[in-house]
Amino acid sequence: MGLALTVLPRAGRSGGPPQAPPISPRRGERRLVDSHGRTIRDLRLSITDRCNFRCVYCMEPDVRFLPREGLLTVDELIRVARACVSLGAQKIRITGGEPAVRPELPEIIAGVAALGVADVALTTNGSIMDARTLAAWREAGLTRITISIDSLDPGAFARVTRSRTTPRDVIDGVRRAVAMGFHPVKLNAVIVRGLNEDQVVPLAALARDLGVEMRYIEFMPLDSAHAWDRSRVVPAAEIAAAIDRVYPLVPLGRHDVSSTALDYAFADGAPGGGRIGLIAPVTRPFCGACSRLRITADGKVRPCLFSTREWDLRPLLRDGCGDTEIEDFLLDATWTKQAGHGISAAGFEQPARPMSAIGG
Ligand code: 5AD
Ligand code: SF4
Repeated sequence: MGLALTVLPRAGRSGGPPQAPPISPRRGERRLVDSHGRTIRDLRLSITDRCNFRCVYCMEPDVRFLPREGLLTVDELIRVARACVSLGAQKIRITGGEPAVRPELPEIIAGVAALGVADVALTTNGSIMDARTLAAWREAGLTRITISIDSLDPGAFARVTRSRTTPRDVIDGVRRAVAMGFHPVKLNAVIVRGLNEDQVVPLAALARDLGVEMRYIEFMPLDSAHAWDRSRVVPAAEIAAAIDRVYPLVPLGRHDVSSTALDYAFADGAPGGGRIGLIAPVTRPFCGACSRLRITADGKVRPCLFSTREWDLRPLLRDGCGDTEIEDFLLDATWTKQAGHGISAAGFEQPARPMSAIGG
């Protein structure tokens, strides 16, 4: 454990000495493993911290974005993804901010898809899902899409997202994505007490109607306003009970052990298909089986969503380092992954970066 906290300087050829993670004792295996016995299979690659929304649970209107030159270039992003794949990553999820605001998104999808992973997924707020855009993503090799929708009520949607996009716009995009053959298409809603808890059942009805999975996410302390407190968390059990009263549910358990969601089917089979997923990081942490590693848009390796320590890979990328050195850095950074998020522990410290600057 002491090892994970030791920070060794690594001489950088550009600028001051960037910090490198201590050497992993299991580097030689060339697999992304951590000191708690977990193996990384799932890479979350953030391609921008920018967003055209300002969701209240994520970013404040006056958020400061990273300078553009700080973002990894398309080639750098693909290079990092390739290194992770060669070390065992099997799934890559492209996130943001809002990834669709980065014009090179189709290029990035294509580059990632060419690495031969089983799954190339995208998380989006659903504001830019016209037929042409979706076709470009599809052609580039995207297979799965997860779309945020926090409310069906236009007024409440506007209050949550502080955007001009309407729930109708998002739903139209979801229908297009389903029709175009993306599979699975999943919907995400962050439920916040006093904000959109009244939307739980209407969103379940939407999932039935569209034949997609609706996933409810407990509000986590990742908002840039630092306004999170436990009283605003709607526990997943309460969400499930509210849905079950109207549409009886049948628990399906986790899709696989490292999956974030507890899945439910509708007892009546739901004429249009449709499912429910509950993501309960606060009331039922799933850190023990975590298989995820995150790279921020500016090239920091974040072993955990809640890391207070991150490892800057960008200097290596920009200093002409070889693939082995990049891979070693990823192996070492992964080894430092903390056991859990510790939201419920005394002295919990909210990460300085909000979700938009980490990548869901
Ligand atoms: N708590 C829970 N989920 C959040 N997201 C953004 N901020 C938070 C938060 N504070 C979600 C987005 C998106 C996913 C990538 O992360 O709504 O679905
Ligand atoms: Fe943008 Fe997603 Fe954050 Fe909302 S949650 S502001 S859509 S990055």
